[in-house]
Amino acid sequence: MINPHYGNIPPSYLFSEVAARVSAYQDAHPDERVLRLGIGDVTRPLAPAVVDALHDAVAEQASGESFRGYGPEQGYAFLRDAIVAGEYAPIGTAIAADEIFVGDGSKTDTAGVQELFAADATIAVSDPVYPVYVDSNALAGRLGEFVDGRWEQLTYLECTAENGYVPALPEAPVDLVYLCSPNNPTGTSLSRADLERWVAWARENNAIILFDVAYRAFVTDPTVPRSIYEIEGADEVAIEFGSFSKTAGFTGLRCSWTVVPKALTRDGASLHAMWSRRHATKFNGTPYIVQRGAEAVYSEAGREQVQADIDYYLRNAGLIRDALRGAGIDTVGGVDSPYVWFRCPAGLDSWAFFDVLLNEAQVVGTPGVGFGPAGEDHFRLSAFGTYEDTLEAVARISSLVPTLHSTT
Ligand code: MLT
Repeated sequence: MINPHYGNIPPSYLFSEVAARVSAYQDAHPDERVLRLGIGDVTRPLAPAVVDALHDAVAEQASGESFRGYGPEQGYAFLRDAIVAGEYAPIGTAIAADEIFVGDGSKTDTAGVQELFAADATIAVSDPVYPVYVDSNALAGRLGEFVDGRWEQLTYLECTAENGYVPALPEAPVDLVYLCSPNNPTGTSLSRADLERWVAWARENNAIILFDVAYRAFVTDPTVPRSIYEIEGADEVAIEFGSFSKTAGFTGLRCSWTVVPKALTRDGASLHAMWSRRHATKFNGTPYIVQRGAEAVYSEAGREQVQADIDYYLRNAGLIRDALRGAGIDTVGGVDSPYVWFRCPAGLDSWAFFDVLLNEAQVVGTPGVGFGPAGEDHFRLSAFGTYEDTLEAVARISSLVPTLHSTT
């Protein structure tokens, strides 16, 4: 009677498990100041331009003349147009406004997209990667059993120092591949040549790429693509997910977009029409007020204010990187990304290092194994804290690391 696949998946979602451990620690040590560099949740307040737009939209909702009830499920035209003008037109991609679907967060969108595909569709993910892609397919029953930390029917594309954190093309054909660039958790990006290889592979193999660009606003390297549609032919093989969460501090407000190009068809079916049907059935739209706030991200003032916050977080990322390197730990990420990724010191596994860091330095990070088997023995620190907390956290980490003795 019940979905048996809930019984196969580890009972706790990664960030819920982290939160539970931190909460237990804080309850036992109420006087300790715990510094949170774990979940990628923003700390900067909303940009003033966004706040003004939210206030204006609230005032509209308070008047009989301007009140709005249900909106279009796919998003208001003003926001779809603004996303095209702000995100896609400047990088020379031909995405049209009616190919944009406004959602309430990339977690919802990336977890939901698997519904468009057959129950026996085969899946590959880069490893390590945002756990939602894997967990949503596990719950849909596509991944088989979870044995020794691996799903039996999932293709893992390892991203390690040895391959420069670039996933190799699958050796056997798969139907769907989830990629994220800049990647969560490694903070590394795929180059244009990498993406060209992936698009060519997808075209040859009739596969679909599910491409997550939640962190695209952090890209500073002008050669790094900000959208898969910068690659010719990608509109026939890729769906892309963008988010206002990390770009503009909307983790609490909730707003995202999904691009489903009209050129993307399989077996005579339009994926655009399918996603539109799904959206209309399951979603009544992101709140009007929130969409007005998101639109303001693209105003002149909004852009400047949001960029200042991104620069603020990137400065934190630099602090984390420098401190770890100063302590003799190699890192990746933190340049075009708010995440810094590294091998745990002293031969500790990732949950052991999590516990040491929490207990000895009162700093929270995210254990790498939570992002996939290739994350074992690795760790992620987030740059989304305040500058002051990040400074304090890196000072504590710099004092702690030399006291850890290698067990390897
Ligand atoms: C993360 O820390 O990986 C993200 O904040 C989680 C999310 O965006 O859902």
